[in-house]
Amino acid sequence: MAMATRILLRELDTPNIHKMDVYMKNDGYEGLKKAIGMKPAEVIDEVKASNLRGRGGAGFPTGVKWSFIPQTEPVKYVVVNADESETGTFKDRQIMENNPHQLIEGAMIAAWAIQATAVYIYLRGEYWDVAAGLDKCIAEAEKKGFVGKNVLKSGWDCPMYTHLGAGAYICGEESALLESLEGKLGQPRVRPPFPAQKGGGLYAEPTVVNNVETLANVPWIMVNGAAEYKKFGTEQSPGTKVFCLSGHVKKPGNYEAPLGSLTLRQLIFDEEYGGGVPGDKKVKAVLPSGGSGPIIPATDEALDMPLTYEDMQKLGTILGSASIIVMDEDTDIAWVAAKVTKFFKHESCGKCTPCREGTYWLDKVLDRIMADQARESDIDLIANIAKNMQGVTLCALGDFAANPIIHTVKNFPDDFKRHVGETAVTAGGSARRGAAAPAGD
Ligand SMILES: Cc1cc2nc3c(=O)[nH]c(=O)nc-3n(C[C@H](O)[C@H](O)[C@H](O)COP(=O)(O)O)c2cc1C
Ligand code: SF4
Repeated sequence: MAMATRILLRELDTPNIHKMDVYMKNDGYEGLKKAIGMKPAEVIDEVKASNLRGRGGAGFPTGVKWSFIPQTEPVKYVVVNADESETGTFKDRQIMENNPHQLIEGAMIAAWAIQATAVYIYLRGEYWDVAAGLDKCIAEAEKKGFVGKNVLKSGWDCPMYTHLGAGAYICGEESALLESLEGKLGQPRVRPPFPAQKGGGLYAEPTVVNNVETLANVPWIMVNGAAEYKKFGTEQSPGTKVFCLSGHVKKPGNYEAPLGSLTLRQLIFDEEYGGGVPGDKKVKAVLPSGGSGPIIPATDEALDMPLTYEDMQKLGTILGSASIIVMDEDTDIAWVAAKVTKFFKHESCGKCTPCREGTYWLDKVLDRIMADQARESDIDLIANIAKNMQGVTLCALGDFAANPIIHTVKNFPDDFKRHVGETAVTAGGSARRGAAAPAGD
């Protein structure tokens, strides 16, 4: 990839970009300086014009989200979602470790745009070392006048704090995150009010919640302008994206590329990216957005689809946070469904019945299937349980838990059938466990 198209993983082009002096020599904090020279509403308009879409999963337009904040409220917050809890997602960590000032700068530009009174970076508990690194960078930025009191002599005060969660998937969901940040049990809130509204955000004040990668795009947009940003990517998916590639690929890792410039096939097989499948096996299936999105069979149509928000929708799946998990031809997809279900059962917060009971029930039946003790009707049963969980839960985790079942049963029925009845004895026993997921089921 041409160097100029790398906006986020800049350490690959500019060594030591994590250091303040190197960052500043390379346009560092120029975006914040420019933003502070503009009216907050103008900053929101520029980000709106870039059509930057949230990288946390839902792809909601960032500038539009900022514009929901009522400017008349005196207390407002920016909260950075660094929970990074989606299966197969490991991009935010790389950005925070290797290009931390770009996140800090992006968060401060967001804070100026909504006239926030403080910024909180909420990190998953396991990222304690990343938080320690960020704390040092925040202190450096404060010394330079980019964070804290009287930011860049503008008369505006905005401190920035890191906060560690306890390592729960549900605390990546924005309202559960806010509960956890307030020191309460991390469970989603009933909405409305939404976080941007009075009563719905942190300490009931209007709050913008944005993902790390989303905010790390913002300094570039401020320095170069929305029109330049839109030269990368497609009309509906502008900019570059970090793709987290894992599973059965020779070179797993984070790869940044303009949205739409790569197909799934290129990402998996090109030497510059995944380098192909170990043992040169065929690809059987792909999870384009970790365990929570619909799994897709690796047809030619799917492999040749460009990686954008809109194209993944055409395949009946989502790009989400672009955590792309590849499964080779030997993977038992029933095992994948069982494994992902165990994850969601463990991570369900238990607040609403369909998710709490549904994930528990699915897990029980899938245990039976994986023990090759299933009845034919068990396959219909799990599909039915999953369908009854869809669209009826308080947060999207209920849908996420239903997805792996609905789409695996529909697209890979034979993988389930071989665990049923007499065929299970021969086929099920020898079915290879999917090495895409951690060992030990
Ligand atoms: C169960 C669940 C887990 C989530 N986990 C994360 C996460 O780890 N990181 C993240 O940025 N967004 C996560 N989200 C999405 C957030 O709720 C929210 O939409 C996002 O932080 C908004 O930021 P963005 O607009 O910049 O994408 C999760 C959502 C759900 C329903
Ligand atoms: S859907 Fe699941 S995780 Fe979300 S609130 Fe309900 S029980 Fe909790």
